[in-house]
Amino acid sequence: MTKPTNPKTFHVKSFGCQMNVYDGERMTELMAAQGMTATDDANAADLVVLNTCHIREKATEKVYSDIGRLRKHGNDPMIAVAGCVAQAEGVEIAHRAKVDIVVGPQAYHNLPDLVAKASRGELGLDTDMPVLSKFGALPARRKVGPTAFLTVQEGCDKFCTYCVVPYTRGAEISRAWDALVDEAKALVDAGAKEITLLGQNVNAWSDGDRDLGALIRELDRIPGLARIRYTTSHPNDMTNGLIDAHRDVEKLMPFLHLPVQAGSDRILKAMNRSHSRDSYLRILDRVRAARPDIALSGDFIVGFPGETEAEFEDTLSLIDEVGYAQAFSFKYSPRPGTPAADMDGQIAPEVMDDRLQRLQAALNRDQAAFNAASVGRTCQVLIERKGKLPGQMLGKSPWLQSIHLITDAQVGDLVEVEIVSAGPNSLAGIERVKQAA
Ligand code: SAH
Ligand code: SF4
Ligand code: F3S
Repeated sequence: MTKPTNPKTFHVKSFGCQMNVYDGERMTELMAAQGMTATDDANAADLVVLNTCHIREKATEKVYSDIGRLRKHGNDPMIAVAGCVAQAEGVEIAHRAKVDIVVGPQAYHNLPDLVAKASRGELGLDTDMPVLSKFGALPARRKVGPTAFLTVQEGCDKFCTYCVVPYTRGAEISRAWDALVDEAKALVDAGAKEITLLGQNVNAWSDGDRDLGALIRELDRIPGLARIRYTTSHPNDMTNGLIDAHRDVEKLMPFLHLPVQAGSDRILKAMNRSHSRDSYLRILDRVRAARPDIALSGDFIVGFPGETEAEFEDTLSLIDEVGYAQAFSFKYSPRPGTPAADMDGQIAPEVMDDRLQRLQAALNRDQAAFNAASVGRTCQVLIERKGKLPGQMLGKSPWLQSIHLITDAQVGDLVEVEIVSAGPNSLAGIERVKQAA
């Protein structure tokens, strides 16, 4: 089969964080607006966009195995590598694997031009970082599900010593207030009931003297929008305005993902986290005072260079002190070009494995306790999709727990549910029938 020029069908595969997923959705809308048809089957597509993640070595390696698979089983498609690996490796990818397009996360609005270039047999390469210009160049939001993402802020100036994001996403920039309010309204018009505001440092968002708390208060006024969430936050950017919004704005869900990474002050310093164990805990005190039922989530890295057993145990004791409702944990992965990759004291893989297991046991224990404590609670559940059993629907509680229940309610409905039992990954609920007045 000859390689398709001017591809007619396409498939976008996203590998990374929620912003990466958001970018994937926007690329899909962009290609559809060009008259191309989306397909679920990567092997049948004329164009495959691999929307990549560079955060850990494993994530990066996946791209190359995917390219190999597509070349073997696919339609000999045109292949575009997009996302953070594209930004980090640039033209090197085209040298290492046979791909047609390499496009960075700030340049994907140019995808149609790059496809045209690749159709002429040239490499389509664009890893420029023009400030915010992609948002103005993308088509308007179309139909979306009940939950939608909205990127409000991109990039990171924090330079944690282990992390590639400041290099792949560039400097911290905030989108303008009006553009965000307009996009939120368009999402609600297209069917969204819940909007999750996204940024690598979402709580660093600002426009003039308005902070994320002010933006949340504005979105609260959009009729038809039922829920607001935001992620991911940095401890140093938890402004009073944002904490107050947790107290005052009912649509703002009682959930905070606030990564801490480690519980030892020496490790936090080596990571360049710019907060201490104690300052992190004091922030959580303030958040809990504003919203006592808030569910907390975090990110953890085990085996940062030089981490001793005692320092690792400081992370375990921090977990005990906080009691997370859920969390993500990772083995440290050295990333090319980051300061930590060259630090002394890289930790042996078996030590990392052991620490990750112990950390996850502690986190699982707390998640199970949080879920068990929810049994008997009545709350609203936003129905997101059908379950496996007849009549079963799946949705999320305000605290981001997955709930399954038997109901006549449809996707996008909010139903009043009593949580009746808690399993390891999801909770069972029964619909509370509203009493007639
Ligand atoms: N901007 C967000 C997300 C960054 S990436 C934030 O600052 O929280 C998501 C998580 O990946 C990080 O919180 C961190 O826990 C993890 N991570 C980042 N770089 C890593 C690395 N080199 N090795 C292992 N985990 C890493
Ligand atoms: Fe990476 Fe740190 Fe920035 Fe988060 S705050 S994106 S971990 S550099
Ligand atoms: Fe990965 Fe880039 Fe997100 S490196 S975590 S896709 S910002």
